[in-house]
Amino acid sequence: MFKLLKYADKYKVYAFICPVLMIGEVMFELLIPQVMADIVETILLTENADAAAQSAAIHDIFAYGGKMLIFAICSLCCGSLAARVGAVAGMGFGASLRHGLMEKLQTFSFSNIDKFSTASLITRMTTDVNTVQNTFLMLIRIFFRAPIMLVSALILCIRMSPEVASVFAVALPIIVIVLAIFAPIAIKRFRIMLKKFDKFNASIQENFTNIRVVKAFVRTDYEKKKFKNSNDNLTESAISAEKIMVLGEPALMLLMYLTITAIVIIATKSISEMKLEVGQFTAIFTYAFQILMSFLMTIMILAQFFMAEASAKRIGEVLNEEPDIKDPENPIKEVSDGSVEFKNVSFRYGSGGDVIKDVSFKINSGEMIGIMGATGSSKSSVVQLIPRLYDTASGEVLVGGRNVKEYSVYGLREAVSMVLQKNVLFSGTIAENLRWGNKNATDEELKKACEISDALSFVESFPDGFNTDLGQGGVNVSGGQKQRLCIARAILKNPKILILDDSTSAVDTATDARIRSALRKYTPDTTKIIIAQRISSVSDCDKIIILDGGAIADIGTHKELLERSEIYRDIYDAQQKGCDEFEAERSEQ
Ligand SMILES: Nc1ncnc2c1ncn2[C@@H]1O[C@H](COP(=O)(O)OP(=O)(O)OP(=O)(O)O)[C@@H](O)[C@H]1O
Ligand SMILES: [Mg+2]
Repeated sequence: MFKLLKYADKYKVYAFICPVLMIGEVMFELLIPQVMADIVETILLTENADAAAQSAAIHDIFAYGGKMLIFAICSLCCGSLAARVGAVAGMGFGASLRHGLMEKLQTFSFSNIDKFSTASLITRMTTDVNTVQNTFLMLIRIFFRAPIMLVSALILCIRMSPEVASVFAVALPIIVIVLAIFAPIAIKRFRIMLKKFDKFNASIQENFTNIRVVKAFVRTDYEKKKFKNSNDNLTESAISAEKIMVLGEPALMLLMYLTITAIVIIATKSISEMKLEVGQFTAIFTYAFQILMSFLMTIMILAQFFMAEASAKRIGEVLNEEPDIKDPENPIKEVSDGSVEFKNVSFRYGSGGDVIKDVSFKINSGEMIGIMGATGSSKSSVVQLIPRLYDTASGEVLVGGRNVKEYSVYGLREAVSMVLQKNVLFSGTIAENLRWGNKNATDEELKKACEISDALSFVESFPDGFNTDLGQGGVNVSGGQKQRLCIARAILKNPKILILDDSTSAVDTATDARIRSALRKYTPDTTKIIIAQRISSVSDCDKIIILDGGAIADIGTHKELLERSEIYRDIYDAQQKGCDEFEAERSEQ
């Protein structure tokens, strides 16, 4: 928790002023019972006095009343100012912590993100930051106030009556023992509750982001059940945590009232023995409450602090996570050409087994390369190594003749444009989405890119053309249209290497062929790597790489592979057979 305090740096003046003001509030609050005692004493002394003495006493009482009012106003001013300053510091701390987390998340590589999961990152950034922020606010407002109040009230009480004060010597340790029994159980249960909360968030996040799939598979009932389970789980653990609090609170209250009773008994005895004045008794009574309340407060804050530790730890994990893909010292800023070479590359996700096994191949700048293989044969994994979305486990990936690790990540990714298999569009207009590729692109350039990706005709058929709003995640366009817009966005970057990972799977064969021929015509210097399931999507490529179980099975042209690669021939035959059967059926009709 303390390590996170550096995020409160900007607000340290506020964080410092707040406790000072709180101390001011305490001081004025502690003075009030003293004046109260004086008032009671004055009344008692003049009870049987003559009229002149009584009118003098009334005058004194008014003066005391005025004093009390001033102290109360000062206490109020300090208190409300402290609340305001504290809120600025607390909220500011939370905001800069969230900002810090956001900055850090932007540096994360895919594998860093894989490690945490999106849902957990969201919980860390919202619920956990809130907990830490509230604890910080409590710390600066009450952490100083409560102990100062406790010590000062105790000293004043001892000064007035050591006998009465001795009650606290017994009562306070007993309260500590009771709390020592309850608090660890409560903290443990609250931590469990936080974990359940994490799971709950993950479950609703998954449901909401994939609501269309849920509906398409008519899984609404299943999802409802799943939600109910995690909601019930969360409620159960929250009740279990609250139960211990509910048990603890009356126990503490009982202890408090026993203490007060003991104080009343001892104080009455002291008054009868003339050791204590009646006026002082009222002050002592107020102090007793202040001592007990501030003592409980101090302990509560400590408990809250321990609970927030769990949240602080989870935030710390994100902040301390080393992005595993970083710029080297003196990085190369620009990629010279679009050549790609894999030298004995192996790769694995996290601690799993190798998904790429000793892969080597070379692609010359400007070539069009196809990658084929069964599903799960690591096609996507191979191409993700080119823009360094992941790093190799061993071997080297060279782009433009240099190891990808020698480039600045920005420079490398500027040169390598990739249409991911799971691609997304964002809410906003078509033009805004396309300009993700190049924010300064002119309308002409947008048109050109759409022409290459065969998107122009349908974009222009929309009444608002390029200004058509896409809705969240691009819901307003069909799957094939979305793919073509994603390709246009990638082309707009004017990359040296363009990677299309199964990016034309939802478009028909004729459109697919048109896109490839436009790519050849308009981007002759760009290296094009096309992952596809259909032979027709790669048959005219300069070379086709066949992957099998993460290793290279063969590399060659369509013709060569048909002659010598069994895997390729099998895929070809299967697809050809499909076509022939279709043709036969059609001719029969
Ligand atoms: N983020 C990930 N974390 C762990 N394992 C992964 C991850 N992504 C892929 N894998 C695993 O790596 C292997 C290769 O996956 P990859 O996505 O590269 O296959 P692919 O050839 O692109 O398949 P497809 O044709 O279905 O897209 C698979 O066994 C898969 O389970
Ligand atoms: Mg894939």
